[in-house]
Amino acid sequence: QSQSDFSGKKVLITMGPTQEAIDPVRFISNHSSGKMGLSIARSFAHRGAEVHIVSGPVSLDFSKDQLSVTRVHSANEMFDACQALHPQMDICVFAAAVADYAPAQVAWEKIKKDDSSLSLDLVKNVDIAKELGKVKGSRQLHIGFALETENEEQNAKAKLDKKNFDLIVLNSAKEEGAGFRHDTNKVRIFHKDGKEFNSDLLPKEQIAELILDQIKNIPVWV
Ligand code: PMT
Repeated sequence: QSQSDFSGKKVLITMGPTQEAIDPVRFISNHSSGKMGLSIARSFAHRGAEVHIVSGPVSLDFSKDQLSVTRVHSANEMFDACQALHPQMDICVFAAAVADYAPAQVAWEKIKKDDSSLSLDLVKNVDIAKELGKVKGSRQLHIGFALETENEEQNAKAKLDKKNFDLIVLNSAKEEGAGFRHDTNKVRIFHKDGKEFNSDLLPKEQIAELILDQIKNIPVWV
């Protein structure tokens, strides 16, 4: 395809994990490396788009890329950064693994160990994709990800509806070489209109290109 098929498009990409503080030295998080999100960002940039990344804490080097990067820690910070960008965006890709829960209170001092067990009171975090899905304009596209361990297709399709995505990319946490941290991924893509696409296990750079090709197929462009 043409190397500039996304030229003039503004794209927001969330990526990486979020970190939810427990106390000044501890947090709740997950294994997302940001590799999938960065591969998508680079593909969009190569294909002419203006790319804005909002990334949780990752150890990737963005310095050689011409990308605008906002670094955040928590889900709330990620939400604030995305909300500010969202009205100007044509396409939003939610590749971040946002923590679903955060400690109800952050302890001011390091929690001391004693002989008893410790319980943490957790509260639900904001669902960034769902909230922005409520204000999505008719010419904006929202692309979701789903990482599942069971009832994968059913759960992914439920998220497609609930979060007002135009398409959702399902990666399995159980598939060898796919999902978190790996340099490869294997995905199933479900469109809102029922179309489906399945990939082989491929480097995340190639998976990103396939995802962009699928986005290009969405009829909002006509
Ligand atoms: O970063 P890598 O190591 O390369 O791994 C890539 C990945 C596995 C993290 C990525 O491909 C992926 O699947 N990201 C989404 C993982 C996830 O949290 O899925 P979910 O099923 O919990 O969330 C569904 C969708 O809602 C996602 O688009 C997610 O970004 C979004 N979401 C979820 C919760 C929340 N509070 N806010 C959100 O925006």
